[in-house]
Amino acid sequence: MSHSLQGPKTGGIVDDKATEYIRSLIKPSSKLQERLESLAVTRNVPIIAPEVASILRMLVNITKPKTILEIGTAMGYSALVMAEENESLEKLYTLERRYDRYKEAEVVFEDAGLSDKVIQFCGEATEILEGWENPVDFVFMDGAKSHYEEFFILIEPWLNKGGLVVCDNVLFRGMVAESSEVNRRDRTLVNRMRNFLSEISEDSRFEIVLASIHDGVAVIRKG
Ligand SMILES: C[S@@+](CC[C@H](N)C(=O)[O-])C[C@H]1O[C@@H](n2cnc3c(N)ncnc32)[C@H](O)[C@@H]1O
Repeated sequence: MSHSLQGPKTGGIVDDKATEYIRSLIKPSSKLQERLESLAVTRNVPIIAPEVASILRMLVNITKPKTILEIGTAMGYSALVMAEENESLEKLYTLERRYDRYKEAEVVFEDAGLSDKVIQFCGEATEILEGWENPVDFVFMDGAKSHYEEFFILIEPWLNKGGLVVCDNVLFRGMVAESSEVNRRDRTLVNRMRNFLSEISEDSRFEIVLASIHDGVAVIRKG
């Protein structure tokens, strides 16, 4: 069995046929992850797409981070993707501003037997990161897209050498890559995202790969 074309389809930049094919080859998730995938659809909670989950899982498997920070946790789905069956993991910090989702994720981490490794924060990521004092090996950004650069500036001093920052939705429905006029509502986000990506690309301390997976995934490595 494999993933079907369900869940977070809208917003992706890859056409449906290719997405369907890609998802048909992705191995099924754990039972708990499957439960959250269904819950996310019925409750309309945004979670990472299956193809983003698979690259995230692989990056974690390759780099074996001891400490992971997630910005934008929702119900804990992507956190589970990074933490379940991850033997190298010692600590997973999660940041979520909505109290209801923070509480839901708490139950999910309990169910997954991860409560002793997960440290949850509830609040605005920027405020939490301003007082941050924990070294991290791996960061996954999936919170407010217009604040990625701000998040990055705040967390980068705590990112260990060789560490990765993975950012979802960086092409933002293709708008970030389009030269044509972006609608007024999304202009600030798009300009900020373009600025963030170009700053990182020009900074010799970092390597960056921009992959057109779902809505665009950036993988940044601190050299
Ligand atoms: C796309 S959802 C995260 C989905 C999650 N990563 C997953 O795949 O299971 C984004 C979440 O980030 C939270 N969020 C957005 N902006 C935030 C901020 N500035 N600080 C903390 N949380 C934020 C939202 O409340 C929402 O639950």
